[in-house]
Parts: sequence; C-alpha cells; structure tokens
Amino acid sequence: MTLDEAVIRRLLDAARTARARAHAPYSGFAVGAAVLTPDGEIHAGCNVENASYGLSVCAERHAVAAAVAAGHHRIEALLVMTDVTPPVAPCGACRQILAEFADDVPVLLADLSGVRSRTSSSRLLPHAFRAVDLPSDDG
Ligand code: THU
Repeated sequence: MTLDEAVIRRLLDAARTARARAHAPYSGFAVGAAVLTPDGEIHAGCNVENASYGLSVCAERHAVAAAVAAGHHRIEALLVMTDVTPPVAPCGACRQILAEFADDVPVLLADLSGVRSRTSSSRLLPHAFRAVDLPSDDG
C-alpha cells in the first residue's frame, strides 16, 4: 500500500477522530494514532487513562491492537497526533509493540495542523527484540 497523500490524509483524519475520544482526565494530554495495514485499511486508537495511573494505555498501542483485532498482523505505517509542536514520537513501550508487526515502516509525527516530521520504526527502535530472537524449543 503506497503511502501517498490520500492515504496520509486518511491516517490524519482517523488519528484526529480517535484523539478527540481520548480518555485523558489525569494528564490532560490527548493522543490519537492510526496504523495502515497492507490492504489499505486504517485502524485508530486513543490513549485511555485510568484512576490507577499505571494502567493507562497509549494511543499507539490501541491502534495496533485494533488492527490485530481486525485480523491484521502486518502494519505498514503509523501516524501519531497530539496538539504539541514539535510533535511527539511514540514512547519506548509502543516502539516495541510496533516492532512486533512492522520491520521498518514510516512513522509520521503530526500536530493538529498535519504531519510535521517523518521517521521510521527501525530508526525509533534499532535492534528491536523480536520473535526470531527467542530461543527455539527444538534446540
Ligand atoms: N501517551 C500516548 O498515548 N502516546 C505516546 O506516545 C506518549 C504518551 C499518553 C499516555 C498518557 O495517557 C499521556 O499520553 C501522558 O503520558
């Protein structure tokens, strides 16, 4: 799936809509995320906080989980949207979650006016730990 302007627009729209639904009463920091799957589907997520603060879950992880729940195990791009400029990049935990489903894919960092910068999943998390790194049980 080509990451052309039309697809980026769809990712932005999905992340913006999800961000508006964020449950962030404790931090006040609403985040929206959207992922692209190989067949062109887009799945979005927002951060969902909890009164037991440590249980809060980031937007990126929810977007990845939504894609997996829809039957996808490959992710071709991630977009993250907040209202801060310069835009934020995914936290370390979300980089690892993304690495499970993406080898080296574009990660677009957006504020409310659009994509501000672009990086990649392997630049954000070089030497990611993956399933292939687990010892096999036949040896
Ligand atoms: N958060 C995200 O959703 N994604 C990030 O990449 C960074 C942080 C959320 C977690 C928490 O709800 C709030 O932002 C403040 O950390």
